[in-house]
Amino acid sequence: MTNIAVFDSGLGGVATVKNIIDKRNNYYFVGDIKRVPYGDRQKDEIIKYSKEIVDYLNGFDIDYFIVACNTICVSAIDYLRENYDYKFVSIVDCGLESIKKTDGDVAVLSTKRTYDSHFYKNNVKDRNVYEISSPGLVPIIEDGLRDRDSLNKYLKEYLKIANEKQIPNILLGCTHFPLVKDFIMENLDYNANIIDPSDYLKENIPSTSDIERHKILLTDIMENTQKMVDRIFGKPTKINKIDLK
Ligand code: DGL
Repeated sequence: MTNIAVFDSGLGGVATVKNIIDKRNNYYFVGDIKRVPYGDRQKDEIIKYSKEIVDYLNGFDIDYFIVACNTICVSAIDYLRENYDYKFVSIVDCGLESIKKTDGDVAVLSTKRTYDSHFYKNNVKDRNVYEISSPGLVPIIEDGLRDRDSLNKYLKEYLKIANEKQIPNILLGCTHFPLVKDFIMENLDYNANIIDPSDYLKENIPSTSDIERHKILLTDIMENTQKMVDRIFGKPTKINKIDLK
């Protein structure tokens, strides 16, 4: 049985867990709902928070970590790999691997922090990469997708270049964004190949056990957090509030 720790700033990582979950591993998920979004924060702050999460999860006899947050990967994964003995699987590496399986240009929707790192542009050299900073989406998702008008307004703006250039591939470069995939498709006026890096992760996850178990550990539970987690799992799902300190 493998104990896999997964973490993210918030609900995006819950969607990652839901996608990759199998009957062979134990999953321990931490989402830092109290401090989401990370995407507008500085690198040092993100390193500090990631360290707190890893130290917290350290208590669970973890075999390896999945960093289910693009923003944390581009900001803190080097620090984590240098300072802990654990293996850290990176969702942005899954993004790169997913892109390799496609042809043609790619639009990458991400947080501002991931955009500013230019991780995808710097690592994909064989085609045009259009990085699109999309900071408006995460707060709306965390809020339970109530503000549909703003959501569609932001998506229209963020997808403008994709619609203009009919960019064939759109990479969801933030783990929150699969939660608005339907809305993204509605705001595209052509058929794009929408890439969710957690699909690659799901296919490539090392696993050894045959028991399905998971724990959803969140640093805060807001008005719509339970509703969103239930919606992600498609059934009432237990969530636990934790304190990182
Ligand atoms: N889910 C995170 C990502 O993949 C970021 C959301 C946030 O801004 O906290 O980048």
